[in-house]
Amino acid sequence: MSLIERIETALEHHFSLTHGASAPPRLMEAMRHAVFPGGARIRPQLCIAVAKACGENDRGLTDAAAVAIELLHCASLVHDDMPCFDNADIRRGQVTVHKQFGEPLALLTGDALIVMAYQAIARSGRVHPMRTVELLSVISDGVGAPDGIVAGQAWECESRVELSQYQRAKTGALFVAATCGGALAAGVDPQPWRKLGDTLGEAYQVADDIRDVMMQADQLGKPAGQDAHHGRPSAAADLGLVGALDYFNNLMQTAVDSVPACESRAAMRQLVLKESERLVPPSACEIISRQHAAKSTRVSA
Ligand code: IPE
Ligand code: IPE
Ligand code: MG
Ligand code: MG
Repeated sequence: MSLIERIETALEHHFSLTHGASAPPRLMEAMRHAVFPGGARIRPQLCIAVAKACGENDRGLTDAAAVAIELLHCASLVHDDMPCFDNADIRRGQVTVHKQFGEPLALLTGDALIVMAYQAIARSGRVHPMRTVELLSVISDGVGAPDGIVAGQAWECESRVELSQYQRAKTGALFVAATCGGALAAGVDPQPWRKLGDTLGEAYQVADDIRDVMMQADQLGKPAGQDAHHGRPSAAADLGLVGALDYFNNLMQTAVDSVPACESRAAMRQLVLKESERLVPPSACEIISRQHAAKSTRVSA
């Protein structure tokens, strides 16, 4: 079974346990709409890959950690797309939850997915309660204050923001939860895995900023040009495309180098490199270098 198949099966399993006949049908429909079909599922893939690298021995707990992280991510997207944040119409190539179901249900869908994440862990944690307590702590750090997604989104309401702090909170923190959560689910010290999550997560947001400038909505499956439109802090705006690409490449190299010694080190490094090419393909790198060269020629002429 591939990692993606394993994640989809685990998500379906936890949905089947959460969705009773007494539940409001439109809320249930909206929750499924927010989660299926998925996007890259990169965070749960990372979580399971790390658990395997750490000698996974409680598959149910690993799956619950991966499911919880993906549900929290999906919840953050539902809220992020609402009119009070980015007011987006399209997500993962389909109509956003608030457009399809209205704002009250979008708000409740995000809330319900957050709760469902913790339900998934609670029902899977009996075999290893001590691991579960630590898992709850690391996952909560990834989504709450002072440094998780909520804090990251809240920086948009401040007059001054430090770009890296904003990126690491709104995106990096859940990647840290993914790598450290994978280690904890396997009963292993998460500390050596923190740097991989932190750097990969920040790189992921830098890539998202580059893609927001360079790609079209039909390629992204979500609106393009949003950072400039909303005046959001962005690596592309702060550093220019060339600077952002350099910064991305450095973060990705650090991420690759930070994979701790383990049996599957080569495979993990390969996963990170593959992700790097998917996020900013060589064709996009070429366009950025050509634009840069053309600009330099114009300046020197
Ligand atoms: C989108 O995340 C929001 C960011 C934090 C950049 P992803 O790019 O992982 O979205 P999906 O899950 O693949 O749709
Ligand atoms: C990341 O920020 C979103 C969350 C942390 C929820 P963006 O607003 O840049 O992400 P997209 O571009 O909408 O996916
Ligand atoms: Mg946003
Ligand atoms: Mg957004």
